[in-house]
Amino acid sequence: MPVIEGKEIRASVPAKVILFGEHFVVYGKRALAAAINRRLAVQVSSRGKRGYHIKIEDIPTFGLELDLEAGNDEKRKVRPYKDYGTAVKALAYVRSSIEYLEERYGIGNEGVEIEIKSEIPLSAGLGSSAATCVATIAALKEYFGVKGDVEGIRSDAHNVEKIVQGAASPIDTAISTYGGYVLVERNEVKRLRLDELNLIVGCVGSIPLSMDSTKASELGLKTKTIVEGVKNRRAIFTSIFDSVFDAADELTAQAIKAIEENDLVNVGALMNINHGLLDAIGVVPRRLSELVKMAQDLGALGAKVTGAGGLDEMGGVGSVLVLPGESGDRIKAAMAIADALVMDVKTGGEGLRIETDF
Ligand code: PMV
Repeated sequence: MPVIEGKEIRASVPAKVILFGEHFVVYGKRALAAAINRRLAVQVSSRGKRGYHIKIEDIPTFGLELDLEAGNDEKRKVRPYKDYGTAVKALAYVRSSIEYLEERYGIGNEGVEIEIKSEIPLSAGLGSSAATCVATIAALKEYFGVKGDVEGIRSDAHNVEKIVQGAASPIDTAISTYGGYVLVERNEVKRLRLDELNLIVGCVGSIPLSMDSTKASELGLKTKTIVEGVKNRRAIFTSIFDSVFDAADELTAQAIKAIEENDLVNVGALMNINHGLLDAIGVVPRRLSELVKMAQDLGALGAKVTGAGGLDEMGGVGSVLVLPGESGDRIKAAMAIADALVMDVKTGGEGLRIETDF
């Protein structure tokens, strides 16, 4: 496909939080997710020679600091990625997106520069993988003039996520593409119009130094491992788990109503109950549990794990979501002291944005 010389495309997409119903959605129950005002951008431009050159920068990731052994001057530089393993994982999504587009649409290989800038921490349950796929696919399709609509980009990105991870629910790629709010029910994606919420996200990201490097690199498979754990426990306690899943389904429905009515007290109370249900199915590690309890003690209207949760043996890496009420500053200070990466976020942000003139 011919590409106009000097052409530059930038595609940016939002991160996401799951407000209600994570894990239960895997069993067909309702889940509500929202875009947040943290974005990832992929810029595509032409390169002097054949092949793809990929550069990832600014990812606010954390954990293992890698200082490469001095070999020559080039290598002596400290790498900008603190958590090198997950940065490599991000590259896997870019590479698979390219391979998928080459195979499906026959995009060329004239020489492309791909630059990724992200405000989304990796492996934190904030949708960085889906964001990488959606933005890379959107930018490359636009660059190579592949015809299609936003729905096509969403479905291509979902296919790539499934190729890389083995399995993925449609929730993350839908939110990255559309922004706003998305309800997933029996694997169907519905877009909802709801008002903005002001929330705090706390990410536990530091991988303990005692963790060996194989375990650290397994973090890329964290969601898969946790989802499998739930499946195994459900196989033993099926009827109990099914009751919990039904309660979670009803909870998401009531939460949507509470958001529509701007009843933040009930939204918070339902977040607390949702957290309890996640604890019951075994996806809340000690460090995330402590952050939630701390936020609740300090006066949050509600607090819960968001996304897949975590595992103690994987360092408790994951994120919590807090509806702060009047206590935001105290909660943020306490979370920072507990070594969490703290972010103020607003829900319901813009979805995929493609710029050709910037
Ligand atoms: O990958 P995360 O942390 O955003 O969690 C995914 C949400 C799950 O419900 C646990 C899994 C899924 O595919 O929906």
